[in-house]
Amino acid sequence: MKLAFFDTKSYDIPGFQRYGDPAGVEIKFFEPNLNEDTVSLAAGFDAVCVFVNDTVNAAVVDSLYRLGVKAIVLRCAGFNNVDIKACQGKLRVFRVPAYSPHAVAEHAMALLLTINRRTHKAYIRTRDFNFSLQGLAGFDLYGKTVGVIGTGKIGRVFADICKGFGMNILAYDKFPAADSGLNYVELPELFAKSDIISLHCPLTDETRHIINADSIAQMKKGVTIINTSRGALVNTEDLITGIKDRKVGAACLDVYEEEGDLFYEDYSGHIVEDDKLVRLIAMPNVIVTSHQAFLTNEALDNIASTTVNNLTRFFGGNPDTSTEVCYHK
Ligand code: NAI
Repeated sequence: MKLAFFDTKSYDIPGFQRYGDPAGVEIKFFEPNLNEDTVSLAAGFDAVCVFVNDTVNAAVVDSLYRLGVKAIVLRCAGFNNVDIKACQGKLRVFRVPAYSPHAVAEHAMALLLTINRRTHKAYIRTRDFNFSLQGLAGFDLYGKTVGVIGTGKIGRVFADICKGFGMNILAYDKFPAADSGLNYVELPELFAKSDIISLHCPLTDETRHIINADSIAQMKKGVTIINTSRGALVNTEDLITGIKDRKVGAACLDVYEEEGDLFYEDYSGHIVEDDKLVRLIAMPNVIVTSHQAFLTNEALDNIASTTVNNLTRFFGGNPDTSTEVCYHK
């Protein structure tokens, strides 16, 4: 079976070769993202493998179908970049529902610890033999209240980590988990009482811009907002305003609304045109990472093995329904 692999990064290749070769999956690694301009590269392939910033809209789905592609295998959990409705009756779509909730939850905590205790600034100072502590004061996480929005696999691991720090947890989920032991509240209460708010829900029509001027207005002054889920959960302009108004105390962003053309690429020698992102990065109380929360060796290994399994089961006539994305789900 022939797989066209889009948006390839060097760290993708070893794992996919390790699992793909013995399974008889012939993989062609393409550097460009999949989109309307590049979809013709998929000609002659049975399936395409895509990641978070590939664009699989209705036009791309139609082109893939016409080219004879049978399946889309996402090497990620979120599938908001794929027009699932357009795939109906044309292409089967599989994903990696869980490759390491720990990787993402631990990165969320890493960002929180960094922005709070300013370790990123301290590191740069001491490398320059500047041993001043001026401006490095943080706050104890112990005893603080963290609001977790979305208590699926990642949200629950993050809540467990926070419990280890002695934090109080408030949770919100559209479908609360009865067995979680979490204290579920409605969003207004979570906004009003949380010192830290961490987003772990998927991007849907309902959750788009869940963090906006109105929700920020309901939050505590000085709140820290963490987003390791999807960029468009946050209205970036409203976040910037909230920070400039000193209402939002800090923001930790592993994802960004308009990350598609920027993240995963090296623009260090360029003038970045995205003024909102540049403004965020210029703020001392904001940390931006380039959608890297998933990036651990364990997660990469799980991603490769599950994706190859998705392919071999589908083409072997025994698709894994637990990893298939269907419009009605
Ligand atoms: P999951 O499916 O286990 O959990 C998502 C939770 O969100 C579920 O409990 C669901 O009921 C809840 N939810 C759905 N609609 C909601 C709404 N309207 N309001 C509140 N909660 C709602 O997913 P998992 O594995 O925990 O991943 C969460 C998100 O993390 C993914 O959707 C993905 O966008 C993001 N992610 C980010 C990564 C990164 O590298 N930064 C890597 C992996 C996932």
